[in-house]
Amino acid sequence: MSELASRERLRIAVQKSGRLGDPARDLLTRCGLNFRQSRDKLFCFGESMPIDLLLVRDDDMPGLIAGGVCDLAIVGRNVLQEYALGHAGDSPFSELRALGFGGCRLSIALPQEIAWCDARQLAGQRIATSYPNLLGDWLRRSQVEARIVELSGSVEIAPRLGTADLICDLVSSGATLVANQLAEVATVMNSEAVLAGAATTPIDERGDLLELLLRRLDGVLNVRESRLILLQAPRAALADISDLLPGKPRPLVTSIEGSPDQISLQAVCSGQIGWADLEAMRRVGAHAMLVLPVEKMLS
Ligand code: PRP
Ligand code: ZN
Repeated sequence: MSELASRERLRIAVQKSGRLGDPARDLLTRCGLNFRQSRDKLFCFGESMPIDLLLVRDDDMPGLIAGGVCDLAIVGRNVLQEYALGHAGDSPFSELRALGFGGCRLSIALPQEIAWCDARQLAGQRIATSYPNLLGDWLRRSQVEARIVELSGSVEIAPRLGTADLICDLVSSGATLVANQLAEVATVMNSEAVLAGAATTPIDERGDLLELLLRRLDGVLNVRESRLILLQAPRAALADISDLLPGKPRPLVTSIEGSPDQISLQAVCSGQIGWADLEAMRRVGAHAMLVLPVEKMLS
């Protein structure tokens, strides 16, 4: 691998168009980064921190990291594993964080009119995919010999064009399959967006920047599902209410001036607080309940 040039700015690859681009940039914004986009829309200069974005196709990201062009990428785990299977022996990147969005699966899909029994019926069939390594691995594990037709895009129309009998492609909402009269029949792998980096941390300024970014990212990811609850209740109901708080956090309890039997309670709950939770707390005496989203947390 080429000697990585020493750089002072960290460079993150983000999907140019597609499902992961917007949520990825949104997440980085919540980490305090903001960007000015170049006229050709391929590069975003970091204005608040020396962290820039390169807007690229997701399939190019593993190569950009391996070649030292980018330090990080926000990319589907499926893309990383496809690359890793094709480069056995060296693993040029590591998965730093799972990001909790972009959930999807790589699935086998057949034209709707064909009935599905099991993987054995795929023997001798032509399967169109952009993920030949992941599919090949799954076929081997399923002990099926089929023909892989590698396509870089528009996989879903291959059966109609007659270039393949079925497909193996990413499915998120399922809308693309329905629009192409295909039915999902088996899952090859589950995937989501991850933050990937080189296997070794850069030892120049970028190492410190990466550490700072990861700390902020954890601050955002950890509270994403958290809610702050505020309520009032009779002091006697404290134990019952504490039991009902999702995730059983230790609440902060204060007395209410002039009402010795009443308390005010606040707690950060890990997880959503639904109407049913609030109604249960109300039944044991809570009132004036407020639920607020948590934006960031630093301890
Ligand atoms: C995937 C896949 C389908 C689409 C499925 O594309 O190739 O086209 O998403 O989504 P749906 O089930 O919600 O309809 P992706 O966003 O990964 O872009 P790319 O294939 O161009 O990289
Ligand atoms: Zn892609």
